Amino acid sequence: MTEEYDALLGLARDVAHEAAALVRSLRRQGVAVSATKSSPVDIVTEADKAAESLIFERLMAARPGDGFLGEEGASSASTSGVTWVVDPIDGTVNFLYGIPQYAISIAAIDRGEAVAGVVLNVATGECFAAARGAGATCDGRPLRVREVVPMSQRLVLTGFSYLTEVRGLQAAAVVSLLGKVRDIRRLGSAALDLCAVADGRADAYVEEGLKPWDMAAGGLVATEAGARLQSNPGVGGMPCVICAPVGGFEEFFDVVASCGFLKVEGTTAQADAGPLRGVE
Ligand code: IPD
Ligand code: CA
Ligand code: CA
Repeated sequence: MTEEYDALLGLARDVAHEAAALVRSLRRQGVAVSATKSSPVDIVTEADKAAESLIFERLMAARPGDGFLGEEGASSASTSGVTWVVDPIDGTVNFLYGIPQYAISIAAIDRGEAVAGVVLNVATGECFAAARGAGATCDGRPLRVREVVPMSQRLVLTGFSYLTEVRGLQAAAVVSLLGKVRDIRRLGSAALDLCAVADGRADAYVEEGLKPWDMAAGGLVATEAGARLQSNPGVGGMPCVICAPVGGFEEFFDVVASCGFLKVEGTTAQADAGPLRGVE
């Protein structure tokens, strides 16, 4: 398996670098919003679409039997058992504004489980990568989560939905969390947030409303670096992804639940299948 996962990872890495070069060159030509999706602030640019087309073409040419699920709509059914889950630009609002925190995210899913993943920060060139059972790296450097510290010293990453009604509930939970941790950060790319936990740049991450392409690759990078990743029903009615170093996960989970991020019925929150549910 390891060799097969390595091959998938090598392909994902090559394609991600090619897509990043395209996104950089399109950005130099100027960025404009070309459409909106779930809400007026959920935007798409020509670069999102062009990068997804390039990734689709390259992956399907290399592995015609694989499936494909891309955020901007490219799709193909799998006959090989492997499906590629792709976010052509995660952090599109940062891309629009020129904030250097947006990434190409490419993951290979084998029977519902991420087995290879690449998250490439287009602006900085940092490349996070992982293959199941083989660990995670950033530009070849092995990644390890941060040592567990008391809750009051943990730096927590989070993000907000594009839907106003869900944002209000998330904001209320964050207000409660702020009093219990060192601080929070909203960096604007879920894929890079998960890689930040993997690299010890943050102590934990929590966000409701992620889609498979937001977290497939970054989630594998995080778990291969020693994090636990779990999804539970969120207060806004969508899966809420929680990620923290294995040793500090349960305590963080309890704080997340007590702050109102989750739709808790009874005393224990039951994990759900998470955003990758249904990706075969
Ligand atoms: C978004 C980013 C953001 C997260 C949103 C995602 P996009 O992806 O990952 O950090 O808070 O939930 O939708 O729209 O930039 O691809
Ligand atoms: Ca995304
Ligand atoms: Ca995107």
